[in-house]
Amino acid sequence: MKKKLVVLTGAGVSVESGVATFRDNNGLWEQYRVEDVASIEGWHRDPALVLDFYNQRRLQLATVKPNAAHFALAELEKDWDVTILTQNVDNLHERAGSTRIFHLHGLLTQVRPENCYNDVDNYSEESVFDIGYDVVNLGDLAPNGAQLRPHIVWFGEAVPYINAAIDHVMDADILLIVGTSLQVYPAAGLINYYQGNRLVLINRDETPYDHRADLVFHESLGDIFSQL
Ligand code: APR
Repeated sequence: MKKKLVVLTGAGVSVESGVATFRDNNGLWEQYRVEDVASIEGWHRDPALVLDFYNQRRLQLATVKPNAAHFALAELEKDWDVTILTQNVDNLHERAGSTRIFHLHGLLTQVRPENCYNDVDNYSEESVFDIGYDVVNLGDLAPNGAQLRPHIVWFGEAVPYINAAIDHVMDADILLIVGTSLQVYPAAGLINYYQGNRLVLINRDETPYDHRADLVFHESLGDIFSQL
């Protein structure tokens, strides 16, 4: 039986595909206010601005490709039972060939009616629609008559797959954490559920959890993969 490898990924994995991170220099949160484009209050204040922000992200996603890190993680499925827990809302892990992926913070290519909350206990996958790389405008309605909103987990909203993610981390032989600043909860807190002694962390910059790792690499993923 293959050993279980759980991988928690963040924006750093997609950097070398050309997708901006959130907290780095020139990251998205330097250019936009989180409370405007990633909170339910922002959505109620100015839904057109929020739709435009995610329309831009979605259109950009259509122009980028998975990079060596995404492909390497997909390749690991040959020898490992791999589960990807990603904070990323791009679809680059699936396009690289990974098959078991939990999008903890939603997915840019999906939308749902704004009156469907999808909290942890009432999660309903039937209410989520794939729209690919299309633009969503004010007035675009779901079959239930409600305005469509991005299927993105905003600050203050519940993370639908968190319980499944905890179960996977608890069962992991190896926990690999890649390209995340580990500053956003509950995703960062997943580390506390790992029970093994093979915690590997690869991130360009330091994280608050470096001391917990059995192996830490502060390098760019491109450098790591070119060395491998
Ligand atoms: N190789 C490795 N790591 C890199 C690279 C690279 N080429 N480029 C950047 N990084 C690292 C940075 O060191 C940084 O610590 O990626 C990390 C990205 O951190 P964040 O921008 O905070 O992204 P992430 O941790 O994914 O953010 C979590 O915050 O705003 C929310 O919902 C959003 O899912 C996101 C969550």
